[in-house]
Amino acid sequence: MLKNLRVILWALVAIAAVTVAAYVYLDRQNAVAIAPAAIGGPFKLAASSGDTVDSATLKGQPFAVFFGFTHCPDVCPTTLYEMSSALGKLGSEAKDLKVFFITVDPERDTTEFLKNYLTSFDPRIVGLRPSLEQLPEVAKTYRVLYEKVKTEDGDYTMNHTALVYLMDRQGRFFGTLDFEEKPEVRLAKLKRLLKEG
Ligand code: NI
Repeated sequence: MLKNLRVILWALVAIAAVTVAAYVYLDRQNAVAIAPAAIGGPFKLAASSGDTVDSATLKGQPFAVFFGFTHCPDVCPTTLYEMSSALGKLGSEAKDLKVFFITVDPERDTTEFLKNYLTSFDPRIVGLRPSLEQLPEVAKTYRVLYEKVKTEDGDYTMNHTALVYLMDRQGRFFGTLDFEEKPEVRLAKLKRLLKEG
């Protein structure tokens, strides 16, 4: 029962996020000025590459961000697989596109662990590891929710928002990729993002 309630709650969170995204998108279509700070914001986080990624250095480059964790049984590996497949199809067209996978489970996901995990996916996907202090802040800027849930075996899993956020060359929110949407829809969105600006 509690589990069902959780699933419903997380579905509502996802629907709310998509609704916000849809309104922002509609606003864009109507050329209405939107608050540029609605989703996203500056971050400076440890990366799986061993460096630090500072969003300030991304000016002029579009990027995609999503939140997850390497122990995720389903949504995260699927999203990473779908993103890798889209990047493969875009080829050099997406050479400017940076993709960040921000862990919501920094306790288990060390940068080294993220690095090893991501070797199975497109090399343009970079893992970012916020500290436990940085995590709530960066999640808040992207309106991402996450929670630690104890499992019956005494371990834990993480519930989290499953949207991929697309940010344009000026670092402004551009739209989302949604979990398991059609590959051609995803590709079209990424092409629009890359053409912008
Ligand atoms: Ni996940």
